[in-house]
Amino acid sequence: MKKQLVAVLAISLLAAGSAFANKKATDTTPEEDLKVYRDYFMKKFPGVPLNEFQNGVYAIDKVSRDSWEAIEEFPPYEPMIEEGEEMWNKPFANGKTYSSCFPDGPAQRKNYPHWDAKRKMVVTLPMMVNECRVKNGEKPLKWAKGPITRVLSYMAYESRGQKTNVVVPKGDADALAAYNDGKSFYFARRGQLNFSCASCHVESAGQHIRTDILSPALGQTTGWPVYRSKWGELGTLHRRFKGCNKQVRAKPFKPQHKQYRNLEYFLTHMSNGIEYNGPSARK
Ligand code: HEC
Repeated sequence: MKKQLVAVLAISLLAAGSAFANKKATDTTPEEDLKVYRDYFMKKFPGVPLNEFQNGVYAIDKVSRDSWEAIEEFPPYEPMIEEGEEMWNKPFANGKTYSSCFPDGPAQRKNYPHWDAKRKMVVTLPMMVNECRVKNGEKPLKWAKGPITRVLSYMAYESRGQKTNVVVPKGDADALAAYNDGKSFYFARRGQLNFSCASCHVESAGQHIRTDILSPALGQTTGWPVYRSKWGELGTLHRRFKGCNKQVRAKPFKPQHKQYRNLEYFLTHMSNGIEYNGPSARK
């Protein structure tokens, strides 16, 4: 029965990413989803090794890859990593530092997002950074850009090479519900353009939209924070979620809203096995 469902899902994904939306999110397990999803992209872009999907559109388009490689020779985010390292080491007013909240050091990327069974919620790395500040009597940082992206860059840099490994704990109905909520959001059509995330990044991955080529959804969560030339600075994953919601003229959520955390949980799970490589640069 389960096998059949996977097959149906695979066929619908192949026919059109949007067909997935017609199935209930609860019909398939996270493991089944991961297999179908990964196979879909590996088949769609033959010859691209799994880990290469960490590089977004540059994994699949030679022309944009060349100019990106030139950018990466003098990465625009490099000074921000250093600023982040200073933030990491600088004591708060109470004398403690970030390491009081992250005793294992800054290389934390592989641990987030994760399901917190006690709090019954998805916890993300930016959230932990701000909770650490508040716990130590400091003001929380703005979520989408600015100083938070510095400390996140440093942490991402120190975590390069760690593998994505998001776990949806077996037998935890709340964790599964959060994952399925993220999944439903991903495949639901919205906005005046009536597009789902999957319409662009699954169904149409590799195709042109205005001056952009649409990146495959696989690997989209590994390189954050991202320095985008269009932003002229670093931004977080949830900043990108907002931008993509706005593109289809749908109402965006605030960064770190439950909806976006659940979305991040689903989307990051789909990149399990791919290495983190943040911070990174995009056109
Ligand atoms: C109308 C098409 C469209 C829709 C719908 C859309 N996006 Fe995007 N998205 C883009 C474009 C264009 C870019 C920039 C080029 C690229 O990397 O794909 C982008 C980039 C991204 C990136 C950055 C990828 C990278 O490697 O830097 C992420 C993550 C992302 N989108 C997630 C989402 C999510 C989640 C949704 C649903 C809430 C969504 N997108 C909906 C068009 C879309």
